[in-house]
Amino acid sequence: MSRILITGGFGFVGSNIALKGLQLGHEIVIMDNLCRAGSELNFNILKNSGEFKYYIKDTRLMNDVKYVIKEVKPDFIFHLAGQVAMTTSIIDPLNDFQTNVLGTLNILEAIREYSPYSTIIYSSSNKVYGDLEYLTYKESQTRYSCVEHPNGFSEELKLDFQSPYGCSKGAADQYLLDYHRMFDVQSIVFRHSTMYGGMQNANEDQGWIGWFVDQAKKTKITSSHSFTISGDGKQVRDVLYVDDVIDLYFSIISFSDKENLSGNAFNIGGGFDQSISLLELFNFLENELDVKLNFRKKDWRKNDQKIFVSDNVKIERLLNWKPTNTFEQGIRSIL
Ligand SMILES: NC(=O)c1ccc[n+]([C@@H]2O[C@H](COP(=O)([O-])OP(=O)(O)OC[C@H]3O[C@@H](n4cnc5c(N)ncnc54)[C@H](O)[C@@H]3O)[C@@H](O)[C@H]2O)c1
Repeated sequence: MSRILITGGFGFVGSNIALKGLQLGHEIVIMDNLCRAGSELNFNILKNSGEFKYYIKDTRLMNDVKYVIKEVKPDFIFHLAGQVAMTTSIIDPLNDFQTNVLGTLNILEAIREYSPYSTIIYSSSNKVYGDLEYLTYKESQTRYSCVEHPNGFSEELKLDFQSPYGCSKGAADQYLLDYHRMFDVQSIVFRHSTMYGGMQNANEDQGWIGWFVDQAKKTKITSSHSFTISGDGKQVRDVLYVDDVIDLYFSIISFSDKENLSGNAFNIGGGFDQSISLLELFNFLENELDVKLNFRKKDWRKNDQKIFVSDNVKIERLLNWKPTNTFEQGIRSIL
């Protein structure tokens, strides 16, 4: 069994991983400052689910981070604490930088000083590839497709940091890889597409699947309920159900050749088979709940990608992981 420190462990991904870790008998330690609305709820769920240690502390503060890492000396750090919304990063770029870049650098420095045998896994984002506007797109009735990358985007895509969120996630992502090169830190970067599932506490800025599911449920109660979307609804993302995310993180723990993974970045998503546009999601929800959704379109969000679908070949080859849940199954589980 392993000692696992989860930063942001009361958030959506972290609390799901923590619950599974407790079930599997791992020693779970959480560091979270509870700044995300809804993290308190996850904290209470976890408290009723098993014994674990936690620190209500802030990754932006070097003393907090050093204190925790020196005391815990984890085998693994799942570094999930972050400023998670593109929209919020535009309102407050400084906090976005401090949380995502400084917070990550604090952890890497603390590893170097107090826990050099820890393996750290960082939840980066497909936003490190920018808006991909230099590529060519085809438009069908319900979705965009990319002419040059019809089956998905691999890690070969050029990095192109845009928006404060893209810059901060991208900088942290690169620091992880560089600390492996320069200081032999065992670091792995996951460039995640959309993840969804239980305990997400979704809102309009973060957790779009959960938020649109909520809108559909509200429409079921009040048929005149309406909402707005940014763009034309044909934008496509590959979506990954949280059970597959959990499976991925625990696959790393049981994998014997971690050296081979360290220093690598991986695109992680549901892949082409689990890709969906907003219009296709709405169609699915209308059929499932027998409702007619009322929505208005407004301007595109700046830097929004028309399509992002992960090509999971690299992680599949090195770790033998691939998603197993379909979006139909996953979305039904949160309806
Ligand atoms: N959910 C997705 O679809 C998605 C997609 C790409 C990348 N990611 C990344 O995955 C990670 C986890 O995402 P999530 O959806 O679970 O987010 P979340 O907002 O649900 O959880 C993040 C947690 O981090 C905590 N936190 C924030 N700032 C902190 C700080 N300075 N110190 C300590 N704790 C702090 C919050 O209180 C929250 O509990 C994030 O880094 C996010 O950028 C998520």
